[in-house]
Amino acid sequence: MNEIRIFSPASIANLSCGYDILGVCLDKVGDEILVRKTKKRGVVITKITGQKLSKDIRLNVAGVSASALLNETEVDCGFEIEIHKGIKPGSGIGSSAASSAGSVFAINQLIGKPYSNKELVKFAMEGEKAASGSLHADNVAAVLLGGFTFVRNSSKNDYFKLNSPIELAFTIIHPQIEIKTSDSRAIVKKHVSLQEMTEQSANIGSFVTGLYTEDYELIGRSIEDNVIEPLRSILIPKFNELKKTSLYNGALGCGISGSGPSVFAISKGASTAKKVGVSMGKIYNELDLEYDIHISYVNDIGIKILEFK
Ligand code: HSE
Repeated sequence: MNEIRIFSPASIANLSCGYDILGVCLDKVGDEILVRKTKKRGVVITKITGQKLSKDIRLNVAGVSASALLNETEVDCGFEIEIHKGIKPGSGIGSSAASSAGSVFAINQLIGKPYSNKELVKFAMEGEKAASGSLHADNVAAVLLGGFTFVRNSSKNDYFKLNSPIELAFTIIHPQIEIKTSDSRAIVKKHVSLQEMTEQSANIGSFVTGLYTEDYELIGRSIEDNVIEPLRSILIPKFNELKKTSLYNGALGCGISGSGPSVFAISKGASTAKKVGVSMGKIYNELDLEYDIHISYVNDIGIKILEFK
């Protein structure tokens, strides 16, 4: 096999209560990546469409993660990468994760799958580090494993997949402003009180319990973050109003998607998720602020192979 085309999806990190440890893979929105084997060794990015991004493999996250993989792997060929960005950088729905994870997934397929998808997380995380300055695995683990994922310890490669209740539907509203993950991480406070630690741990525990017992109400009320959300929400226009209207219109919970500015709400069923999206959109219409809305069920598969030849 010499060429592969894949769809590498968007994802939501944190889910409010799980800063850097919880993630979920989305459907429909994502990047398309084509990787071709070449005789000449090394990695080159030959084409990027959809966004203006560097083709320098030391600066582009797809090049950084691919190089990390190839530094550890004996191969007798090189790779050309084409990236068609469907996710805007700085949106909070895992733009860098989709490209970082997508390039290593595609190369791994072309070289006969020496690594499991779980083992690819550490290479993909290098792309995340290049984008945000920190090694966090929550988005890339969700993209590579699919479904809801948990990062117990990224330095020990300890990630796993959680149960995904089938009716859980997401509404994501993305106001057309860009917030760099590095900036959004810089405002997170470095210390928490014992009470905050207790509350946050309780919410993570009940969130995961809710996923397994398929208790939608419990999942919803576990979407609570008294540590990071109060600081980051200041950067998001009308965050409190978005939350209020989503809950009023039937959402089970609402919070910041990753490092923002996207805001997510979860609902039981796509029709409620759509209604929630309309109500959130009205808030930004009044502000004359442009936005994108995505409605998605959980993508339990993760990256999809579109063509392999
Ligand atoms: N967990 C990360 C953060 C996700 O909240 O900064 C950003 O991609």
